[in-house]
Amino acid sequence: MVATKRRLLPCLCLGLLGALCWVWVSCASSSSSSFSSSSPDVVDAGDLDAFQPQSALSDVGPSSFMSYRGPGNRDPRTGKELPVLLWWSAGLFPHFPGDTERIDCAKSSCMATSNRKVQYHKRTAAIIFYGTDFRAYQAPLPRPPHQTWALFHEESPMNNYVLSHAPGIRLFNYTATFSRGSDYPLTLQWLPSLSYLLQPAAVPLREKNLWRAKGLAPVLYMQSHCDVPSDRDRYVQELMKYIEVDSYGKCLNNKALPADLEDTATATGEESHFMSFVSRYKFHLALENGLCPDYMTEKLWRPLHQGCVPVYRGSSLVADWMPNDHAAVVVDDFSSPKDLADFLRHLDQNDEAYARYLEFKEPVHVTNTRLLEHLETREWGVNDMSKPNYLNGFECYVCDRENARLAAERAYRRAPLQALPPQPKMANNSHMGCPLPRPGYGDVQDLLPNDAWLQIWPQDYWQSLDQAEGLESLIRHNESDPSLLWQHIQNIAVRRARGKH
Ligand SMILES: *[C@@H]1O[C@H](CO)[C@@H](O)[C@H](O)[C@H]1NC(C)=O
Ligand SMILES: *[C@@H]1O[C@H](CO)[C@@H](O)[C@H](O)[C@H]1NC(C)=O
Ligand SMILES: *[C@@H]1O[C@H](CO)[C@@H](O)[C@H](O)[C@H]1NC(C)=O
Repeated sequence: MVATKRRLLPCLCLGLLGALCWVWVSCASSSSSSFSSSSPDVVDAGDLDAFQPQSALSDVGPSSFMSYRGPGNRDPRTGKELPVLLWWSAGLFPHFPGDTERIDCAKSSCMATSNRKVQYHKRTAAIIFYGTDFRAYQAPLPRPPHQTWALFHEESPMNNYVLSHAPGIRLFNYTATFSRGSDYPLTLQWLPSLSYLLQPAAVPLREKNLWRAKGLAPVLYMQSHCDVPSDRDRYVQELMKYIEVDSYGKCLNNKALPADLEDTATATGEESHFMSFVSRYKFHLALENGLCPDYMTEKLWRPLHQGCVPVYRGSSLVADWMPNDHAAVVVDDFSSPKDLADFLRHLDQNDEAYARYLEFKEPVHVTNTRLLEHLETREWGVNDMSKPNYLNGFECYVCDRENARLAAERAYRRAPLQALPPQPKMANNSHMGCPLPRPGYGDVQDLLPNDAWLQIWPQDYWQSLDQAEGLESLIRHNESDPSLLWQHIQNIAVRRARGKH
């Protein structure tokens, strides 16, 4: 197995650089050395592990390393002639053993490597980056004009806001992100299958009502990562004024987990025990740590699987992916936490209305054709050994695109009058484009100046824009030392300030 557990714990070290700009230094650290998917919401590592479904990437087993030479691939070249794809984040390199492997894709072949020595080799056509690891001040520079950059980023937008700004995302020619607008979308990465959704509710409504009578709140909150850009606790705190919420995690904790469950929180073996405990609740607060169109995680899919109604905030387009139009309660459909609480109380007291939210458990009530089609046609699998995983899938996407581009360039060089030069291709905000973090409740101007959220996330977002612009400038100036980033950021700020006078 490719090994596999990596926890990135980005932390923010804010310092003052010159008088002009904040420096955002991420202390991304790996507590162990490889990549994991056991928690995509990596920074939510404080969430109870036992509560995680099997990860989308944990199927990186031997079968994923087989070549999928498509019927359209008649590439006769030997390894020495193939274009090279360099995985800049070696921890993600989806092959083993060794650091280099020939890949045979649907239409063409490439060499994939994690060996950075080939960075300036003339055959090195593309560099593949992992978004969470990508740091402007460590970028491979100078960037030769013939080299394309590919971005793989399935994790939370909060891990790297550089990618949410136009100057950041357009550094990349190909993307695989959670956004449906990306080249190789991973939008449903946390939904293994339709049958996962259709599984009958773990606890019948009759039993849930008994638990209510015994004192369980209607709503569950289970979160241990509290300082996040979505500022979810601020909302939940307000909601708690109007409806009972049992909160077991570190955030807004008001209840202790039963003793026998505390241990399972870190063990993975006894998942089912934990699952049946949380399934007693009618509603699960399902609030993503960062808000971005199409960013949906297990927080959403798991309650649907269990037959608990998710009370969701995360992707503003979540309705596009729900089994029907009455499967989840969307926080932003309500004008206030009080309105939401009133509605949840109505469902709590009205069995028929509540049961309607679980109708999708019967296939005839799964009416969303976008969802069905997407599950049907995606080429990568989640926990499905018969399909490639999405790392190999994206690598092949890049390989085929690069071979097509190189062929078009050769054709153009041979016969400039008959062929068109290949058009440059680059990503834009439709490939990610997460908005400026807003307070979870209320207006930003009403927050106290020393508010912890205010001091971190809006700043992080705008500092990331500075970094993206700085990196663009480094590339434009053909700089070879990425640590000149701060200098370039400062120059840009100075020029801008002058322009205003
Ligand atoms: C890749 O993107 C860069 C911008 O970041 C652009 O200058 C370059 O032309 C693009 N390359 C291709 C082959 O489209
Ligand atoms: C962004 O890129 C997509 C292709 O990935 C393209 O269809 C779209 O027109 C672009 N949007 C803008 C505003 O350039
Ligand atoms: C950019 O820098 C590299 C090495 O530092 C050099 O080989 C290359 O010619 C430069 N490109 C341009 C356009 O100046």
